[in-house]
Order: sequence, then C-alpha cells, then structure tokens
Amino acid sequence: MTPKRGRFRTPLDPGALAFSSSLMVDRLLYREDIDGSRAHVAMLAQQGIIPAAAAKRIRAALVEIRREIETGRLVFSLDGKDGGRLAADDVHMAIEQRLVEKVGEIGKMVHTARSRNDQVALDERLYLRTATARLRGLIRDLRRTLTAKAKEYQDVVMPGYTHLQRAQPVLLAHHLLAYVAMFGRDDERLADALKRSARSPLGAAALAGTPFLIDRKAVAKELGLLGIVENSIDAVSDRDALLECIATCSIIMMHLSRLAEELVLWTTQEWHFAHIGEAFTTGSSIMPQKQNPDMAELVRGKTGRVYGDLIALLTVMKGLPLAYNRDMQEDKEPLFDAVDTTAASLDIMARMMTTVTFDAKRFDEELRKDFLLATELADYLVRKGMPFRTAYEIAGAIVRECADAACGLADLPLARYREHTRLFGVDVYQVLDPKESVRRKRSAGSTGTAEVRKALKQRL
Ligand code: ARG
Repeated sequence: MTPKRGRFRTPLDPGALAFSSSLMVDRLLYREDIDGSRAHVAMLAQQGIIPAAAAKRIRAALVEIRREIETGRLVFSLDGKDGGRLAADDVHMAIEQRLVEKVGEIGKMVHTARSRNDQVALDERLYLRTATARLRGLIRDLRRTLTAKAKEYQDVVMPGYTHLQRAQPVLLAHHLLAYVAMFGRDDERLADALKRSARSPLGAAALAGTPFLIDRKAVAKELGLLGIVENSIDAVSDRDALLECIATCSIIMMHLSRLAEELVLWTTQEWHFAHIGEAFTTGSSIMPQKQNPDMAELVRGKTGRVYGDLIALLTVMKGLPLAYNRDMQEDKEPLFDAVDTTAASLDIMARMMTTVTFDAKRFDEELRKDFLLATELADYLVRKGMPFRTAYEIAGAIVRECADAACGLADLPLARYREHTRLFGVDVYQVLDPKESVRRKRSAGSTGTAEVRKALKQRL
C-alpha cells in the first residue's frame, strides 16, 4: 500500500524513503507503540471523541497485530521484499497501515489528537521503563555475585594499591565490596531517572496540544506512568530521559571496565592473583599455551562504544531549535545500543565472576615484599604520643634503612628501632603483620575485619 501524501503531488523518492525511514531500527518499539495506541484510543472513546465501537475494534485489531508480529506473520521491511509487507517511514506508520488494512476507515481514527512527535516520545519512555527494569535486575545479579565472592574469601588479605604501587593491606572482600557499592549507586541513578522518565508526553500532539478535550492524565494512568510531561513543547522536543539512561549506562560501563581491567591484570602470569574459569577465556589460534581474558577485554572495549552513544545523542540535540526536528530520529540507535551493550556486559561479568578464583598464596607473597606496613609503624608511634608528621618521618627513615639492608620491617632488630626513638618497644613486631593491620582498622567503612563483616551482611 502506497500511503497517500496529502498536499504532495509526487510520491516520495524511493531513495529518500530508504534514507529517511527508521523502520528497521524502531520496529523494536512495536510493543510500546501498540500499548500507547490502545491507551490513547480508550481515552478518545471515554471522552466521546471517537465512537466506543470504533475504539473497541481498533483495540482488538492492535492486539492481533502484536500477535502477527510476534508469530512472524507480519514482517516489517522497507522495500516490501524479504516477505515483508510494509513499506513505511517508521514503526508508527507501519502499524497504522496494518491497522487500516485490517479494520478499514475507522482505523484512521487512531491518530486523532495525536502526532508522531508525541507518539514516538511516549514509545521511547515506555521502552526506558522496561530497559531500566532489565538493567536493574542485571545489576542486582552482579552485586549478589560479587558479594558471594567476597563472603567466600572473607578472611583473605591482599595488597591494596594506590598509583598501582603496593600501598596497605586490605581484605579482598573489602576490595570486591567497593564494586558492590559502585554498582549500587548505578542502581540508584537508574531508579532516580525513572521519576522523570516515566511520564507521558502523549497529547502534546505536534507541539501545541490539541483542541479536543483529551484526558492526558488518564492515558498516563492507564499506562502505569507517574503522570504527564506538562509543557507540550517540552514533551515533544526533550530527550533528557534517553540521555540520562545512556549517561548512566556510560557510568555502569566505566565501572565494569575498571573491574575488567583488574581481572586482566590479576590473571597475568606476572600478577597471578586471580584465575578466570576456562569457559570464559579463549585460546590463541597460534600459541597453544594461551588462555586469554577476552570477555573482560571486550567489556573494557565496549565501554568506548557506549560513551560514543552518549556523545552521539548529546551532539544530535545540542543545536536543535524547539520543538521536534527530524534529527531526533537518530536517538534510537544510540539508545538501543547503549542499553543492549550495557545489559550484555553486566550479564557476562556476573557469569564470569562466579568462575573467578583468587590465589591467597600469591597475595601473601606480595604482602611480604615491599613496605606495606610502614603506615602501621607511624600509627604505632602516634599511639605512643608522637605527632603524626614526626612519626611519618621516622617510619620513612626506617623504610630507607631496611631497603638499604635489603630486609623487611619485621627483620630489623629492636635495638635498631630504638636508635630512631625510645618509644619503640618489643610490641612493635605485633603491628608488623598484614592480618593484624587489617584487624586493627576500626574507622567506619574501613577494611577492618569487623567493618567488612558488617558490610557483608547488607541485603541486596
Ligand atoms: N520516525 C520519527 C522519529 O523517530 C517519528 C516522528 C516523525 N515526525 C515527523 N514529523 N516526521 O523521530
């Protein structure tokens, strides 16, 4: 069916249709589009704008169309080839065309008091609601997996790093729980954005609203949304809700990428802190010995794509005058890509994490090297009454002395300690133990054994 084109004498050039159609991308929104149209039509009948019988026919036909799409009987295609029966601008026109095919003239009532501008904005917001639930479920799974790992290794002490230099002993559980906290904030961000996105723009029509006495709030309620987007110009020209979602996806990916990077580092022969299950690593086509952390690398790599999605949409929006501009059709690819990529990355990370094991022996070896307990020496002197900065100087001098003598802090005889200050007693050796260092941390949120136990009890 070639749609009539109102004021136009010439049909749209096929090349122009191919260039401008978003059908192959936005066909993903068929469910949202049908839900939105059904709610709209119910309201139109309720308000006496279209006959109740017409609304009933249209609503039933829309359910049939959904079934046709889901069973593959209705296939969208741009050129009508490949078994596809619809050639249309976008999913909204395609569904309307099919509706008119099915119910005839009354199908054309569906677009009363509505424009594709508010229709697409609604569909996207409905999509965001589903996407948010999907992402939040995956975040919960990952946080649970990380917490279970933390519990499994709750007594294991590892070197903590700053500047990628060994810094102080920390519990491995504490390190893993840092990621649980990061993803917890991402979850909050998604939940918070929903307060703004779960609102209906429908009824804004093209930009100015409509002379028909529609009930915008009833449509919002029918769709389970929190309310309406008040200003009609804002309702059709705003893409903040999409941007907030992609921005949150970008932050999630950044967090995943840091975890991925640590897995890559930790599974090298050089570090050898962790091992990823074989099912999540790959070999090399030439080097038989290789076991590569490809999943972690891909998560790290895909992060760039999601950042690209954010920049793409920000750039589309930045120069647009109000209200709707066709440029905005370019919003769907970045949105779908960011959501799908982030969902897939969260999912693979959770699955992979369940197979990760850590090497406590290797942590111990590294904890014995270097001077991770130098801060303990300074804190020891502070407890004996010395001001911190002086204690820091003395601990530094002791580190220098041990480094010159190529020995550890615990190997230096007490007499040598006492040459630095008489405040040193034989109890100094007690603090020179990584487990003891961790046990002694008492500040809220620290790596202290008791604090981490408490953190492990939080319910997710
Ligand atoms: N396919 C369009 C989009 O996604 C729908 C809105 C089109 N509106 C219009 N006036 N051309 O943005």
